[in-house]
Amino acid sequence: MKPTIRPMTEADVSAVAALDRLVFTLPWSEASFRHEVVHNPLARYVVLEDDGAIIGYAGMWLVFDEAHVTNIAVHPAHRGRGYGARLLKHLTDIARDHSISKMTLEVRASNAVARRLYAKFGFRAAGLRPGYYEDTGEDAIIMWADLAEPSAAEEGSETRSMRSADRGLSRGGDADGAAHFGAGDEL
Ligand SMILES: CC(C)(COP(=O)(O)OP(=O)(O)OC[C@H]1O[C@@H](n2cnc3c(N)ncnc32)[C@H](O)[C@@H]1OP(=O)(O)O)[C@@H](O)C(=O)NCCC(=O)NCCS
Repeated sequence: MKPTIRPMTEADVSAVAALDRLVFTLPWSEASFRHEVVHNPLARYVVLEDDGAIIGYAGMWLVFDEAHVTNIAVHPAHRGRGYGARLLKHLTDIARDHSISKMTLEVRASNAVARRLYAKFGFRAAGLRPGYYEDTGEDAIIMWADLAEPSAAEEGSETRSMRSADRGLSRGGDADGAAHFGAGDEL
């Protein structure tokens, strides 16, 4: 059955934190995720569930007229199948349901895969936080998207296949293409 996206609950926190530890070098604690799900009224978190297992998650804060994406991750074994895009689309749908048309996030300069995903959704670089990531001292790129405009990701599938073909070898022959960028590529 196709994996489904649903709201994250407190019961998911332990599995989500385990996935976060697998994916990121600066993972969030269980307490942080619990706080988001249980106590933060601005937070909207979702999980991607496949046959009872959590294989991805994403979250954001709805702050006045802006949505701030805090996390998005897909289990390494399930990448490259459109799940990251589904999660991000889900967040944009929630934001639009709240009449929010501006979405922002931060991404490591080296995280080419995530930056490509964000570009598909209309995110554009708008600034830098120098030395933002404390493990490597890498800069964070601040990106913004205007949700009032339909993004390339929301246009036809023809655009998607053309872009995938155009990418050529960047993913070719690599069972886990994101491994080059994977661990440590946090927001
Ligand atoms: C970023 C991440 C969530 C993408 O998830 P995913 O399910 O593999 O992505 P999708 O299959 O939905 O691909 C969506 C787009 O991402 C980009 N992308 C995905 N894998 C890629 C790869 N190996 N090489 C280049 N671009 C890639 C493409 O733009 C792709 O769209 P396209 O196939 O139409 O060209 C996933 O790689 C991940 O969890 N990375 C580690 C955590 C992380 O870095 N999170 C972001 C922090 S800012």
